Amino acid sequence: MDLKLRRLSYPLGVEVCDIDVAAPMSESQFGQIYQAFLDHCVLLFRGQDITREQHIAFSSRFGALDPHDAFPSDRHPDYPQLMVVTNEAQADGSPSVSRYAGRRWHTDMSQTLRPAAASLLRSWRVPEVGGDTMFANMYLAYDALSDGMKKLIDGLHAVHFSGTRKLDATQTDQAHASEQQRISPPVAHPVARVHPETGRKCIFLGEKVKRFDGMTEEESKPLIDYLNRHATRPEFVFRHQWRPNDIIVWDNRCTLHEALGDFDQTQNRYMERTTVFGTPLGYAVSA
Ligand code: OGA
Ligand code: MN
Repeated sequence: MDLKLRRLSYPLGVEVCDIDVAAPMSESQFGQIYQAFLDHCVLLFRGQDITREQHIAFSSRFGALDPHDAFPSDRHPDYPQLMVVTNEAQADGSPSVSRYAGRRWHTDMSQTLRPAAASLLRSWRVPEVGGDTMFANMYLAYDALSDGMKKLIDGLHAVHFSGTRKLDATQTDQAHASEQQRISPPVAHPVARVHPETGRKCIFLGEKVKRFDGMTEEESKPLIDYLNRHATRPEFVFRHQWRPNDIIVWDNRCTLHEALGDFDQTQNRYMERTTVFGTPLGYAVSA
């Protein structure tokens, strides 16, 4: 049976309609879903009232799941394959460690030597309005560059840092950032990346990048700022408004995403994410 797809925006994204991701699914049906994922970069499944085990099982069809050793603070205590993104306070009343997770343009696990292939984010509780997530298509962003700029970035490697999450100036937050930097020292990845499955070129950058390898921060900043601004122009972007029990799957190799935080912080937002390992990329550099 053919999948029913509904496009979500011009640059990227389709909703996969009339599917229960927890129901038995043949190889050929999953094959169609995977093809839609490669073609459209972002998939939306609505109304998925599923268990954590079912979220993990569906995610595993996309590839081996990351147990998040590089991000122990945000892991679900009972399910290492699940990362928690929430503004809900912890049991002892202290603020959630993940309350600012994703609040800048980024791609998951790019601060490691095995950046993520896919992420599957499931919404449990969402605010009445806002708390949206934006996604940008890095194939389109690359294609729109001039030949001169393509040539310039072709040989460049960008240095991605961990611990760049927005912080309040609390000691816990500072300690968290230092711990993240210790776990994941900086790594360099190609700025013009060839997607390992589609073979298409895309911009691989985002706001974890502070400099190009072999250049100073001061020298790098103007071009990094330009490329990030270009890559996230509105015509490359889709903005998702969450409902409970949505699952969004995105391809981290050819998209950037950002959590907006545009909501009433007295309301609850609680999400869980699995992360599919990508192929090894890049090399370690000194800080
Ligand atoms: C993530 C992420 C965005 C959001 O889970 O990787 O960036 O809107 N989340 O919660
Ligand atoms: Mn993310």
